Amino acid sequence: QPVKPQDFAIPAGVFAETVTEVQHYTDHLFRFRITRPASFRFRSGEFVMIGLPNAEKPVFRAYSIASPSWDEEIEFFSIKVPDGPLTQHLQKLREGDTVLMRRKPTGTLVNDALLPGKRLYMFSTGTGIAPFASLIRDPETYEKFDEVILTHTCRQVAELRYGQELVAALQDDPLVGEMARAQLRHYCSVTREAFPVTGRITDLMESGKIFEDLGVAPIAPETDRGMICGSMMMLRDTKAQLEAFGLEEGANNKPATFVVERAFVD
Ligand code: A2P
Repeated sequence: QPVKPQDFAIPAGVFAETVTEVQHYTDHLFRFRITRPASFRFRSGEFVMIGLPNAEKPVFRAYSIASPSWDEEIEFFSIKVPDGPLTQHLQKLREGDTVLMRRKPTGTLVNDALLPGKRLYMFSTGTGIAPFASLIRDPETYEKFDEVILTHTCRQVAELRYGQELVAALQDDPLVGEMARAQLRHYCSVTREAFPVTGRITDLMESGKIFEDLGVAPIAPETDRGMICGSMMMLRDTKAQLEAFGLEEGANNKPATFVVERAFVD
């Protein structure tokens, strides 16, 4: 069913924005962009609640904003679940449709929640790459850290495409291209198909393979910082791995050496 803004009244205190672009990657993944309300401010890496005007009481879900804080549009990267309360409708979005967005962004995957360091690791699985898609497009990230390592692990090769296209496009970006070329590294692995690097990120850290491949010393609290975004199990195991390296979890009001946030699950 096409979603029309006039079908239901827009709830009070919620932005109603227009879809500007939709791109599908696989049967399970797509990205879309919406207009940005002039009064909406957020920090790169934060999430916001979004919904559709297709019911009297719309269903809202947390979505990481995948675009950087300076962008004039808002981008989201989403899974498609056939019976997902929101994504079953969201996956049918077309240019010109309306998306509802609550006014207050929030989240812990922000540069402010980390102490300064030499190297920032962004660990993501699946749609957990979304907040990092925002942060790798923000100059502040490159000003705060000498090196930025974005890891993305998916079940299948096709699921890496959003991140690969993003990083490729970043190389010629007028604002951050030069910094990204010098400071950003993208480390991909796949767990259920053949690929140059296979295996879970936790196993790649435990074996030391990722550090050998990147030519860096293993993670240490003196130099390295981490951000983690994925499923509950991935967060738990990656967090344990970082703690084994001596890192400590931080928050907005108490910056430390790593931070964690759950990726959107429908
Ligand atoms: P695997 O294929 O071995 O389960 P999901 O779609 O389940 O969120 O998985 C996305 C990616 O995250 C997959 O490559 C998956 O590997 C990996 N993954 C799932 N659970 C964990 C975990 N506990 N720790 C690290 N990686 C995980």
